[in-house]
Amino acid sequence: MEKVWYTYDDIHRVLRGLALKIQQDGVKYDAMVAIGGGGFIPARILRCFLDIPVYAVTTAYYDSETCGKTADEVRKVQWLDPLPDTLVGRNILVVDEVDDSRVTLEFVLKELKKEPFNTIGVAVLHEKIKPKKGKLPEGLPYYSGITLGDAWINYPWDADDIDEHNRLAASVGWAADKHID
Ligand code: G4P
Ligand code: MG
Repeated sequence: MEKVWYTYDDIHRVLRGLALKIQQDGVKYDAMVAIGGGGFIPARILRCFLDIPVYAVTTAYYDSETCGKTADEVRKVQWLDPLPDTLVGRNILVVDEVDDSRVTLEFVLKELKKEPFNTIGVAVLHEKIKPKKGKLPEGLPYYSGITLGDAWINYPWDADDIDEHNRLAASVGWAADKHID
């Protein structure tokens, strides 16, 4: 699989554009719900532009093998339980770093749909254009910062050596030819 590297600065710029799309869409979001770990830093940067508070849920994703069959499983590590009163009846924007298989997004959206929110929207930094295992609810407001094919994205917050990461970002970078838009 091809690999791409993004620096914190690249991500900050993409999120500025994503915030503009969200603001131009007409729904006024009251709060973000970041899906941790990957959604935390994007949500914090989006807050600079959207100026709404960030709440958090954390999930863990793994392949489990039962009876020789591999299944994708998501479980809650931490949740909005009980739901804070400040979120009742509000418009919330769920934030994650990547829309990949949609398994995590489907799980989180299904769980959040049980709560008394008004509108729920989703914003992701990267949207991978590929067949999806998970499904999003019909008519869900959806925003992505950047679309790309099925490459592996190296995020700066996962870097062991951030200087080496930035060097790779400078030499390989976004691999512009892999981007769809
Ligand atoms: P989705 O619903 O948002 O499409 O996510 P999916 O369940 O397919 O993702 C499973 C895990 O794989 C997620 O991590 C996601 O962040 C990670 N992932 C998918 N594609 C990439 C990629 O190109 N680069 C990187 N670095 N990670 C990718 P997770 O279990 O939620 O962990 P984390 O958010 O705590 O890191
Ligand atoms: Mg994640």
